[in-house]
Amino acid sequence: MPEGTDLFDIIGTTRAMRRLKPDPVPDAMIQRILESAICAPNGGNTQRWRFLVIKDTAIKKGVQAWYKKALDEVVGPRYASSAPPPGATKEGYHRQHSAVEYLTEHFHEAPVWIVACIEHGKDKPNRSSGASIYPAVQNMLLTARALGLGATLTTRHLLYEKEAEKALGLPPGVHSYAILPIGYPMGKFGPVGRGTLEQFVYQDRWGQPYAAK
Ligand SMILES: Cc1cc2nc3c(=O)[nH]c(=O)nc-3n(C[C@H](O)[C@H](O)[C@H](O)COP(=O)(O)O)c2cc1C
Repeated sequence: MPEGTDLFDIIGTTRAMRRLKPDPVPDAMIQRILESAICAPNGGNTQRWRFLVIKDTAIKKGVQAWYKKALDEVVGPRYASSAPPPGATKEGYHRQHSAVEYLTEHFHEAPVWIVACIEHGKDKPNRSSGASIYPAVQNMLLTARALGLGATLTTRHLLYEKEAEKALGLPPGVHSYAILPIGYPMGKFGPVGRGTLEQFVYQDRWGQPYAAK
């Protein structure tokens, strides 16, 4: 397998790449990403997923205003009073927040967005709706990484869901689950750091350490 396309390497280096170059991304790459999306499993194989590719800067700018408002009014203050998550140092957490601020300011400058949606019709979105779209989203993130493209799974626009979905031009009955800003990354892909299995895995009984032999 050529270097950089080993599945385990890809999984281990698929990180949120928030600093993106504005250079255009070839349509063939976007198509590859979308083809990976529709390989994902979804409940009942009903395939009610829809993907909106956005290159129009005016539309992206309209959504960015809500994305930024959500940082300024909700996420920023929450960050200021929270501790680093498992696997992150204080410095790393701080760096992450700078990158979050950078992406927020430049959200609309990412050359392409893919908005992952579900056509719900009259059905109410519920927890399993997400389970039928996020596998497709992860396939897109992994494929972008394999192609050397940076991307981030973002959902913050949902804090102003109605307004952001209006700016996205979604028709009634269609809801968005993630916006992936995609472009060539400014930096390098580094290893993912999330802590250790011992922190998250139990065996047989809740709280009992997992013992791999
Ligand atoms: C459900 C979900 C929503 C997320 N929303 C955002 C977002 O709105 N903006 C953002 O910059 N990152 C978002 N992220 C990315 C996480 O913040 C990111 O995975 C985390 O910072 C770890 O970064 P790393 O993958 O580079 O290690 C989201 C991730 C998930 C899974």
